[in-house]
Amino acid sequence: MKFILSLLVLLATAGSARSATPLVIAHRGASGYLPEHTLAAKAMAHAMGADFLEQDLVLTKDNVPIVLHDIHLDTVTNVARIFPERHRPDGHYYALDFTLAEIRQLQVSERLNLKDAQPEFPGRFPTGQSSFHISTLEEELQLVQGLNKSTGRSVGIYPELKKAQWHRSQGQDLTRAVLPILTRYGYAGKDAQCWLQSFELSEVHLLRAELGWTGKILLLLEGGPKDADGNDTQFACTEAGLKELSHLVDGIGPAFGSLITGTSPSNRRVTSLATRAHAHHLAVHAYTVRADALPKTVASTDDLHHLVLEEAQADGVFSDFPDLSVRWIHRAKGH
Ligand code: G3P
Ligand code: CA
Repeated sequence: MKFILSLLVLLATAGSARSATPLVIAHRGASGYLPEHTLAAKAMAHAMGADFLEQDLVLTKDNVPIVLHDIHLDTVTNVARIFPERHRPDGHYYALDFTLAEIRQLQVSERLNLKDAQPEFPGRFPTGQSSFHISTLEEELQLVQGLNKSTGRSVGIYPELKKAQWHRSQGQDLTRAVLPILTRYGYAGKDAQCWLQSFELSEVHLLRAELGWTGKILLLLEGGPKDADGNDTQFACTEAGLKELSHLVDGIGPAFGSLITGTSPSNRRVTSLATRAHAHHLAVHAYTVRADALPKTVASTDDLHHLVLEEAQADGVFSDFPDLSVRWIHRAKGH
């Protein structure tokens, strides 16, 4: 009887790429509690039980990959105070215009909204308190591997190549700077605890065809028919699009809006995107859980997790609050 039941489960899930337990990817670390992408935020996320820690990556002037979400330094550092003259004509201070030694002089704070210079998330870590810095990719990998050793856990990494084409237009190659570091730290190959992510389809083609990257890749999808990087998101979500992607990547990363539609909890609807992606053996890791900025279609973080991971059947979530995501999964899955 047990054998027949197992066989039925196996048959029911054939053709599906869905993993048994959803993954929690700490989005910029435990960024709901500490300034994003600081080593403190990464250590906290590791301790909270995240499965993967995310690294957004950009380059310095001397070609060092650093862990920073924006290509400029304005929103999370005191760069305007330390180097007041070093902005470009558009007013932004680009990481690419600063050496690592210069970037090390900056203090990191909670993200500010540049329009009004107020915190983007007012309830989070107080601006300007304590002392935080930007880290290099290598420093972060050493932290993750050190924590894995000291805790006996096996937390993976989830690097994102930020605006690789823009870097190339500026004469520097982010992707070619990052891959040797990932390889040196043991993150090359399909079985490595590493998902490489990008919003840029052309960069993904380059990773596979020209650079021979065989590790897991997730293509991030923005909302809207054509996203800012020129990708055709609408086509990517069709059967033909998903089939094409399945020959190229291991998963897709939609925003929650592609999995839950509607305008309020009373008229929301879950889409078939994740189940259709599974039929093409694509994993689905959706973004972003923010307890202090929930989609208008959900009533709570638990409601959001239930809709995305249970009803829509995504395989994982990027979360600013990894503790809440881990807690929901433990309760729902009974472990
Ligand atoms: O990489 C997943 C999610 O982080 C995409 O959005 O802008 O936070 O990098 P962003
Ligand atoms: Ca990201």
